[in-house]
Amino acid sequence: MKILSIETSCDETGVAIVEDGVRVVRQALASSLDLHALTGGVVPEVASRQQLALMLPTLVEVLHEVDREEIEAIAVTAGPGLIGSLLVGVETAKALSFAWGKPLIAVNHMLGHIYGAWLTHGGLMEERWPKLVLLVSGGHTELILMESHDRFYKVGQTLDDAAGEAFDKVAKLMGLPYPGGPSLSKLAVEGNRLAVDLPKPMAGKDNIDFSFSGLKTAVLHYVRQNPHYKAADLAASFEWTVVESLVSKTKRAAEMYGAAEVVLGGGVAANRVLRERLVERLSPLPVMIPDLPFTTDNGAVIGAAGFYQYKNGAGVTDWREVQADPSLELPEMGEI
Ligand code: KG4
Ligand code: ZN
Repeated sequence: MKILSIETSCDETGVAIVEDGVRVVRQALASSLDLHALTGGVVPEVASRQQLALMLPTLVEVLHEVDREEIEAIAVTAGPGLIGSLLVGVETAKALSFAWGKPLIAVNHMLGHIYGAWLTHGGLMEERWPKLVLLVSGGHTELILMESHDRFYKVGQTLDDAAGEAFDKVAKLMGLPYPGGPSLSKLAVEGNRLAVDLPKPMAGKDNIDFSFSGLKTAVLHYVRQNPHYKAADLAASFEWTVVESLVSKTKRAAEMYGAAEVVLGGGVAANRVLRERLVERLSPLPVMIPDLPFTTDNGAVIGAAGFYQYKNGAGVTDWREVQADPSLELPEMGEI
């Protein structure tokens, strides 16, 4: 089954055709990142205007010479995200759904991040349940126990900043170029991770929640007290502290809930140290890591998530009922 999928929740305009939730048939991705680099962060008004400018050219790139009869449904990110950006994708998808007479699947952006691993590992993903998902993006840091495609439980989360947000804020206070996460981790490669002694967030506490704002403040104090600090050492020490926190809580949660495998998802899943350390520390438990293109925002992961929702009869609606929702929650998510 082929699904046309659209993602416009922030500053990326993504369109894809995904088959059976695991195979990318075609895809195109445009970004307004360069514009946001000029202001050191995403300006929502600028992002939504760029979404408008990029939406149709990106769609045309994917649909070029595609027989639309092959497409059985349309999936779109309904939220969470920036309202002006979300509206562009949602209204485009609604128009296509109306014009083609195809069902519309409203997809939660965070669900898309979870399904990046399906596009990389395909059928292997159906073998082991329950899965423990470490979801780490710019706005979310959560541990999710996934018992099936329609049963999710949030078992841990950040009490303050998300991991990506912490990377971005620390990069900014160190004067590194936008986007902060990738520039900080690039700089960290040349640094010594043991050089700066930073507080370990929530260490020793017998819980599986995260907290990164104290760590960010500790970095701020360090920078103020050491004006001639070595940036690469600080970057490496900060990155290592965040990764150790993410990995140790994931390991504890996987043991607590008897997870058969761990799945990584979200923009911070692009971080090399996190990818390597997770595999190293969780071994012999399998760790399913998405290929780099499926970590940050794109249309394909929305098509993968949309397929499994469609199979379960979830998220499928009449186009008239689909609304962009900037603070959309995963509806299946409950307390265990
Ligand atoms: O998932 P995403 O593209 O957008 C949201 O849904 O939030 O994630 C973006 C986040 C940003 O905070 C960015 O700095 C972070 O992912 N990120 C990274 C890396 N690449 C992206 N953080 C650390 N290391 C990276 N290599
Ligand atoms: Zn995202």
